[in-house]
Amino acid sequence: MKLKIAPSLLSANLLNLKREIKNIKKAGADMLHLDIMDGHFVPNLTFGYELVKQIRKITNLALDTHLMVTNPAFFIPKFIESGVDYISFHIETDSEYKKLLRKIRESKVKAGIAINPETPIDTVKKVWDYIDYVLVMTVHPGFGGQEYIEECTKKIKDISNLIGKRNIEIEVDGGINYQTAKLAKKAGANILIAGSFIFSSNDYNKVIEGLKNV
Ligand code: DX5
Ligand code: ZN
Repeated sequence: MKLKIAPSLLSANLLNLKREIKNIKKAGADMLHLDIMDGHFVPNLTFGYELVKQIRKITNLALDTHLMVTNPAFFIPKFIESGVDYISFHIETDSEYKKLLRKIRESKVKAGIAINPETPIDTVKKVWDYIDYVLVMTVHPGFGGQEYIEECTKKIKDISNLIGKRNIEIEVDGGINYQTAKLAKKAGANILIAGSFIFSSNDYNKVIEGLKNV
C-alpha cells in the first residue's frame, strides 16, 4: 500500500505560503500538516486559526492539525470552525480527552491522539473507540529539522500490532527522510509527515514521490 504524505508547513517558505501550498499539492501531497504551537506546551510559537481559515480558502488538500498546546479544549472549537479535516492533541494535555475526542468527531472531523517519544503506549489503549488515528512523534515536539529517534520505530510497531484490524491510521511525525520513512512504513505507519526533508528540496515532486514509494 502506498504511503500518504503530509508535508508540514512549518518548514515551508512562509513568505510565499500560497505558492508553497499550490506547489506541494501539484507535487502529489495527500494532506497538509499544520503544527500549532503555543509557546507553553512546547517552547515555540507558530500560527493560529485565523491563518488556517485563509489556508482553507485556497486549497482542497486535507488539513491535518497537530495541536501542541496546553489547553486543547479552548483551541479545538476554533480549529473546527476553520474548516480543518483532522485534529490531534497530546493525550497528557487534558484528562477529559475522551470528551474532546467525541467533540471533534461530532463535528465530522477526524480525531487523533498525539504521543511523545516518552508517552507510554498503554495510554492509547484507552482511546480505541474514540479515535481515527494516532500521531506518533519520532522527535521531541517543538521544532522541525530534528533527527528521528530510532527507538520510536518499535513503538510504531507495537501500536500497529495493538491496532490490529481496527480502522485506525498511524501518522509518524519527525525526522522523516527516505531511510526513516522506510523504517516507519515497515513498522506499520501509513501517513508520513515530513517538513524539512520536503521543503529543503528544490524538487518537491521527486521527494514526495520518493517518500510514497520507499
Ligand atoms: C515537530 C512537528 C513536526 C515537524 C516535522 O514538533 O510536530 O510536524 O514539522 O518536521 P521535520 O520533518 O523537519 O522533522
Ligand atoms: Zn507535527
